[in-house]
Amino acid sequence: MCGIVGAISNNRNIMPILITGLENLEYRGYDSAGIAYSKDNNVNIIKVTGKISNLKQKISKDVESNIGIGHTRWATHGQANSINAHPHKFKHITIVHNGIIENFIEIKEKLKEKNYQFKTDTDSEVAAALLNYYYEKFNNIEKAIKEFIKNVIGSYAICLMLDDDLENIYTIKKESPLVIGTTDNTNIIASDIRAILKYTNKYYILDDFEYAKVNAKEIIIKSKDGKIINKNLKVFTEKNIDNSKGHYNHYMLKEIMEQKETILNTILPFIEEGIDSLEKLPDLTKYQEIAIVGCGTAYHAGLVAKYLFKEIANTKCNVYIASEYRYQNNFLNKDTLTIFISQSGETADTIAALKLVKNKDCPTLGIINVKNSTMSFLVDKCLYTNVGNEIAVASTKAYTAQVALLSLLVLAQAYRNKSLSKKEVLQIIEEFKNIKTLVNDVLNKKDLYQKLAKDIYKEEDIFYIGRGLDYALAMEGALKLKEISYIHSESYAAGELKHGTISLIKKNTPVISSATNANLNAKTISNLKEVLARGANVYLITDENYKEDNINIINIPKVNIFIKSLLIVIPYQLIAYYIAVLRKTDIDKPKNLAKSVTVE
Ligand code: AGP
Repeated sequence: MCGIVGAISNNRNIMPILITGLENLEYRGYDSAGIAYSKDNNVNIIKVTGKISNLKQKISKDVESNIGIGHTRWATHGQANSINAHPHKFKHITIVHNGIIENFIEIKEKLKEKNYQFKTDTDSEVAAALLNYYYEKFNNIEKAIKEFIKNVIGSYAICLMLDDDLENIYTIKKESPLVIGTTDNTNIIASDIRAILKYTNKYYILDDFEYAKVNAKEIIIKSKDGKIINKNLKVFTEKNIDNSKGHYNHYMLKEIMEQKETILNTILPFIEEGIDSLEKLPDLTKYQEIAIVGCGTAYHAGLVAKYLFKEIANTKCNVYIASEYRYQNNFLNKDTLTIFISQSGETADTIAALKLVKNKDCPTLGIINVKNSTMSFLVDKCLYTNVGNEIAVASTKAYTAQVALLSLLVLAQAYRNKSLSKKEVLQIIEEFKNIKTLVNDVLNKKDLYQKLAKDIYKEEDIFYIGRGLDYALAMEGALKLKEISYIHSESYAAGELKHGTISLIKKNTPVISSATNANLNAKTISNLKEVLARGANVYLITDENYKEDNINIINIPKVNIFIKSLLIVIPYQLIAYYIAVLRKTDIDKPKNLAKSVTVE
């Protein structure tokens, strides 16, 4: 995680570039932040805890510089405080670092034997110290960098300022994204090109084990053995990046409301001309099995797809949490298609799992939102969710777009392997075309969600239960609530409660559920009655006309199984949102989280 920016110019003050860049990168982490810049040939460092707004307050308005580096942190090693914040300076070397130095303890011990003393708990200070050690040993910064690459295990994107050479910024990359943007007499390094688009859309991408020497006039990129690499200059052409909140108080609410457009935008190319459009989707019938890999909400989208693949398209499917998948025997073979789901396309665990599959030469498909992200370059084929920037940490519109795309993949599969007739498929496509109205209908029940939120926002434990598809949705509902409201919430398969968890139900414990499967609903309702009998407050989202004593019902329109999850999740998202509003949390940037999880 964390965000990096570095800038060097011979005709402008780079301080605004650093600050704007860091503000744009705050989605990567916002525990603490800092900058280093040169003034009168000295390196000055300012570090703060908390957000970039705190950093801005500490930087006096009249500071100007032509070279500097900055960082916004999501703490991995050591507390989120100003001491552990970056930049880290070790004698001649000042660095900002993204990633994790895995062998930092070993390196630290060796450096301590050489009388190096450390002030922080971070792996990044150790990286600075090691670079300093090699620099003093070889009296040559490039030799130091090459030695660093040889000896460090882990991931890093580093921007480095050297006291003895304040005409250049050096940058090193392995497994953490890094780009170098270029414009007249100014070059800007960042962990995401989107952070510096105000200044340039022309950039180079650094690959693993490459390093670069960057000054105001030139960018020299080299391989780990020091050979110059001529890279193609890329141009970022994505338009209409809307980073405003509009009239909403939070990005999360704006993004929830946008779903009436984003779901249809994502799937339209695959439904507009009926079956002909559906046929544009990759043919999965040639595979024996589908594996799906993702983290958090992306994993939950995979669970919905698993249910549909198995129950509707009669296709074997398994879903894996990326951080587990990468360390287990996956019996990889060429007859299994592995689908990687990610909003950011930068999630470290998902990238590692993807590399694993690629190394075995097995087929991959990506469902990704961010174009030109690391994963988008790695997968064999990529389907974009096209929902625009998702800024709130809690994923909403990306999730529904992922589910919608996956549902269409299942629909195409069911058509091709004849699990569904052409007539049935056409009916479902027609219903998908009406998704905007259906979503709008559910979004418009604001009063109902606000009332529910008011009833339960003071509780400290909330349970989400369901069976089948409803269980997959319960998992997403519980995640949404816990990440933004800080209420302990858990999801359970409804039938599993009485095997242990029901002991936690007490008077007024909220239990929220959805029941949308005619074959299983009666069973779910029985489970709800069991918790009701133990004092719980029970809420049920359903497309049936149930009237049950003491069960609060939220009705959604009756739709086919492919669309149900897209509607049920909306009350879950809005209930979480309104509860968080009442609890006055920092909804778009909840504590301890970051939008893009680029460390293991
Ligand atoms: C969702 O609300 C979370 N913030 C988180 O679980 C997220 O979905 C997960 O980190 C995966 O991110 P990705 O889609 O960018 O790979």
